[in-house]
Amino acid sequence: MFEHAEARPIDQIIAISRAYAEDPRAEKVDFGIGVYKDEMGNTPVMRAVKEAERRLVENQTTKTYVGVGGDQRYVELFANAVLPDHAYGRDILGIQSIGGSGAVRVLAEVALALNPDATFWLPDPTWPNHQAILGAVGAPIERYPYVRFTAEPDIGAILAKLDTAKAGDVVIIHASCHNPTGIDPALEDLGRLVDGIVGRGLIPFVDAAYIGFGTGWNRDAARVAAVAERAPEMLLALSCSKNFGIYRERTGAALLVSRGNPKLAATNSTLLATARASYSMPPDHGAAIVRTILDDPELKADWLAELEEIRNRINGNRSALALALARAKQDRDWTYIDKGQGMFSLLDVTPEAAARLREEQGVYIIPDGRKNIASLDASQADVVAAKLVSVL
Ligand code: LMR
Repeated sequence: MFEHAEARPIDQIIAISRAYAEDPRAEKVDFGIGVYKDEMGNTPVMRAVKEAERRLVENQTTKTYVGVGGDQRYVELFANAVLPDHAYGRDILGIQSIGGSGAVRVLAEVALALNPDATFWLPDPTWPNHQAILGAVGAPIERYPYVRFTAEPDIGAILAKLDTAKAGDVVIIHASCHNPTGIDPALEDLGRLVDGIVGRGLIPFVDAAYIGFGTGWNRDAARVAAVAERAPEMLLALSCSKNFGIYRERTGAALLVSRGNPKLAATNSTLLATARASYSMPPDHGAAIVRTILDDPELKADWLAELEEIRNRINGNRSALALALARAKQDRDWTYIDKGQGMFSLLDVTPEAAARLREEQGVYIIPDGRKNIASLDASQADVVAAKLVSVL
């Protein structure tokens, strides 16, 4: 059978990440994969994570399975940290997942199992793996318009497109730090969007991979709560990769939210059966780290403090780059970069120009123009901005 194998296009984020790693140039700039880096180019292990790991190594007494749904104490603590006004077990059900991507995968399968007629509506643009994951589970996909280079999404245009959706369809929303644009609706506009989604009989599916990176933990979590308050049913994919910096531990949660709904409990077996048929049971370590941190007020406070330091550095980078770009190319409006949230924003380039940027300048952005500015050394903003505008 192997003779039938054909080269398949690889996910562009992973392809750029590999190409960056293989580039021998010392002055190369990594604006590719969505990973936080400090000004030295390192992705540090957070202080609270190190301490939690030390405690786990000392105190762990077994390596037996954690169960199909994973570490339920972790899921409950993480769900409570995001939705403190919803009771875990009554208003929320969930399982530990293999990162945020694994949560998206399991929830997509669960949604299709519960409603085989559902079409999934994705923002255009969105994280490319959304399409790959939904395609892998055989979900029909449609798109609603998002924005690229303006400071606010157009809620009216989104809802006009969703007029063509049918009741029971699923609408993917990025909770904060929209990937790839960095452009989030203001909280009131998000409420208006969710009211429109619910009013059309559609189900919001919130992908929350960057809570804490936009406007801070509480305000970013409040965006998820704003959806949960309005929607009678919601799917919620959570990730610990970025906000706990435990990317390689593959830790997330797949949650179903429906306040006070007695039918919610009946969905649990679908969640568990989906996980069991996919990877059987999740790994322990990442969830144990997060549980240890969230269960200890001192560790939790230290984690939140360091997360805030990271967020402030990223925001500083956004402003520094927006200013430098404005100096380097005055005939464009760069405010959308400064006003955006999180690591990402788009540069208005063709894939060919992105390739030239990579080959000629050693600056690695994603071919769709997405750049992750977390690794920027702000003192080099003018140098990097000059490189970026050289291909415009
Ligand atoms: C990204 O968008 O770069 C990150 O979420 C990493 C990934 O898995 O794509």
